[in-house]
Amino acid sequence: MDGPADLRMKRIPLNHGTGRIPALGFGTLIPDAAVTITATRDALEAGFRHFDCAERYGNEREVGKALQAGSAAGNIAREDIFVTTKLWNSNHRPERVEPAFEASLERLGLTYLDLYLIHTPFAFQPGDDQDPRDQNGNVIYDQGVNLLDTWKALETLVDHGKCRAIGLSDVGLIELKPIYESARIKPAVVQVESHPYLPETELLEYCKERGIVLLAFAPLGHGMKPGLLEDPIIVSIAARVKKTPAQVLLAWAIQRGTALLTTPRTADRARENFDISALSADALDEINRIQTRQRLNTVVSTGVPGFIPKGG
Ligand SMILES: NC(=O)c1ccc[n+]([C@@H]2O[C@H](COP(=O)([O-])OP(=O)(O)OC[C@H]3O[C@@H](n4cnc5c(N)ncnc54)[C@H](OP(=O)(O)O)[C@@H]3O)[C@@H](O)[C@H]2O)c1
Repeated sequence: MDGPADLRMKRIPLNHGTGRIPALGFGTLIPDAAVTITATRDALEAGFRHFDCAERYGNEREVGKALQAGSAAGNIAREDIFVTTKLWNSNHRPERVEPAFEASLERLGLTYLDLYLIHTPFAFQPGDDQDPRDQNGNVIYDQGVNLLDTWKALETLVDHGKCRAIGLSDVGLIELKPIYESARIKPAVVQVESHPYLPETELLEYCKERGIVLLAFAPLGHGMKPGLLEDPIIVSIAARVKKTPAQVLLAWAIQRGTALLTTPRTADRARENFDISALSADALDEINRIQTRQRLNTVVSTGVPGFIPKGG
């Protein structure tokens, strides 16, 4: 567990490239275009400097516009923000990787990305249909490509200079280990669901030993109620330290050495989620002793995201 330095400013060095990833990240999985723009600007204004996007979220253009307008208004340099996006399942074929990357870059209005992730380890039928289904409604997977082929195409993106670092998302040790062992450029970041009900301790230890950053999504359990925000231990610690349950959960995630993604949609919530401070070792231990176990996303076993409206 990390000590009580300013958690809001913490940046974690990556194992390749020159970048350091801000531990406190803002996620852009927001179905509504107008809300994407306001929420992204509010997050930037509140102090967030790490933005997580994906071609599958269908809103890279809106995120790009909000970042441009917000950066100009706040006099924030491109080098001061860290932007990630993700390769979708229907673009795993090596020849599709660079065009997909360039298309994301164009939509975001950027000249380079700080991080590019393979969104899930599942390859879908290659093509422009992001959700290819057979006549029975089952996903059509692509047996003609494996994860290492796709990874090698990402390594080439790093060689070409517009992509500073690469990583994986929605993987477990079973997928990560073989990629780590064969990769010429090792994964810098692994983005997975993680919170006190799904601490992913074994994966976190593996990553820490190799200088891979574990980037936790759903640190608030997607805000679902009942859920983490109403957990009696979280609520009692929050009352004791005069913070909100959300702030307690975010501080815990950063102090245990992960980076995180949270998605506040209003300016008040953006300020709340940015205004975190370190918890005592006792409070961290209490959270570590929570026994409830719950995974909210089945994307790790199917490649199908649970929180994106079909066609969205
Ligand atoms: N790789 C993947 O497969 C994957 C999957 C899912 C997410 N992600 C990434 O992770 C990001 C984080 O999303 P998440 O859903 O996991 O984030 P989260 O922060 O765990 O949950 C967001 C939800 O929590 C609520 N919330 C936010 N701040 C709150 C606060 N201070 N108090 C009470 N409720 C609060 C929001 O409610 P309101 O809507 O009412 O504001 C929203 O519904 C996404 O945007 C995306 O970038 C990646």
